[in-house]
Amino acid sequence: MPAKVFTVWFTGLSGSGKSTLARALSTHLQGLSLQHQLLDGDEVRRTICRGLGFSKEDRDENIRRIAAAAGQLNEQGMSAIVAAISPYREARRKARQLCGEFVEVFVDCPLETLKQRDPKGLYRRALAGEIQHFSGISDPYEAPDKPEVHIHSDLLSEEESLERLLFRLKELGYLQTLR
Ligand code: ADX
Repeated sequence: MPAKVFTVWFTGLSGSGKSTLARALSTHLQGLSLQHQLLDGDEVRRTICRGLGFSKEDRDENIRRIAAAAGQLNEQGMSAIVAAISPYREARRKARQLCGEFVEVFVDCPLETLKQRDPKGLYRRALAGEIQHFSGISDPYEAPDKPEVHIHSDLLSEEESLERLLFRLKELGYLQTLR
């Protein structure tokens, strides 16, 4: 039986651990020889989403382009892993429609923890007003109501987060083997 094709869509605030978990999942899928493509907000903003900013309009366009790319991959028989803040519920709903099988993963970390960790100093700069429209500080983040997977990344280690995700993907019928 051919492997199922799906899009795993990570949403959450900057610094919550989306990219780390997305890369860990990608490595795991490579180990299973499952063809897929990783689309990370930080990276696609240098390629297919170059020139887009952080207004609602630009973020919606960013998400639309990423979802369109993921949807095309799915149509061609390749799974997609997406990591993007994707702060607006409606944009995520539309993204779901553009893809085939869609697994929304909410990477959930309290704002206070993110402000304390702040490895890139982005929260400090946003709080100082040096970065405008910063999600969670001066711009909204609409948390998912019913994500397929909810990861509390402040409470779990990277390994535990990946394990929980893989468990859910298996439960949902997207992965047959756990390694
Ligand atoms: S999204 O809202 O359109 O989904 P995306 O995930 O592509 O955002 O990009 C977020 C990344 O851009 C953050 O991880 C951060 O490094 C950077 N960034 C720069 N300015 C902002 C901002 N105003 N709000 C959020 N992230 C920003």
